[in-house]
Amino acid sequence: MTNEKHSFTARAHTNIALVKYWGKQNEDLIIPQNDSLSLTLDQFYTETTVTFDSQLSADVVVIDDEVAQETDYQRVVAFLDIIRQKTQAPDHYFQVISVNHVPTAAGFASSASAFAALAAAASRTAGLKLDLTELSRLARRGSGSASRSIFGGFVQWHTGQDDASSYAEQYASADDWDIGVIALTLQKARKKISSRKGMQLSVSTSPFYSEWVKLAQNDIEVVKRAIDRNDFTTLGKVSETNALRMHALTLSADPGFIYFTGQTIEMLNEIRQLRDNGIECYATIDAGPNVKVLCQKENANKIMSHFNQLLGSENVTYTTPGSGVEYL
Ligand code: PMV
Repeated sequence: MTNEKHSFTARAHTNIALVKYWGKQNEDLIIPQNDSLSLTLDQFYTETTVTFDSQLSADVVVIDDEVAQETDYQRVVAFLDIIRQKTQAPDHYFQVISVNHVPTAAGFASSASAFAALAAAASRTAGLKLDLTELSRLARRGSGSASRSIFGGFVQWHTGQDDASSYAEQYASADDWDIGVIALTLQKARKKISSRKGMQLSVSTSPFYSEWVKLAQNDIEVVKRAIDRNDFTTLGKVSETNALRMHALTLSADPGFIYFTGQTIEMLNEIRQLRDNGIECYATIDAGPNVKVLCQKENANKIMSHFNQLLGSENVTYTTPGSGVEYL
């Protein structure tokens, strides 16, 4: 038997949702309950090389120089299984080498950039020629938010009702937009309640869940109009409100749970204080304690030095809007 070996490398950036995805209609296919809308971020990205090697008898997964074990390994294998199914090659195994580029160990290695890069590199290596919509649908199967990381700028993930209709697309480029994100790292440890579990619990037990879906769908429209009009104030206000509402679903679940730490609340108050002092900025928070601050260029340095003093500069990272997935 001849030994066949070839590989592709892809880079994808992570994204921050301004209107969040929090809950699935279909757990298996990862079809969400509502549309979400994000901004792709330049400074946080994953580079992944996928090699097909005819001599492999199982997948090999290396993440940040360490051989992946258990849950991480199983998640990647389950994703590669989808590709094996599509190519009808059940005995094709791959080596996956993935490196997360996150400045100064900023505690949020993102499944969004990871599965977007994996979808791009693995599909090519397996011989699939997918357009960006198909790539977004494939990335979605690894992690919902990864469907958005296929694209740059402002990206909307359409809820859809099945595998074919649930995908993301760019709503608008952020090239003409004055917007930056300051990431505040408060905790580097992995969260105790995964977003998958947290969502399930919120959907099935929060009495406010159906209201969330309606309001989030409305937030999408308001944020889109704000993007069209270059209206940072509306975009920031809606993003902060939407994030707090998402966390209200965790507080109101049964049993309730909280991603915030005391420091998260302190940072929310700092952001409010900055606003009261005429420095415009807004907070958004994903399924963890870390806070991201939305701001404009003219205020970025002032806000950065404020948080540098509180948290140390190694825990404060500035990022501008980023581009879509690319092959290296
Ligand atoms: O894609 P997941 O399963 O990591 O879930 C992402 C959930 C949030 O980050 C909290 C919201 C979002 O839309 O990215």
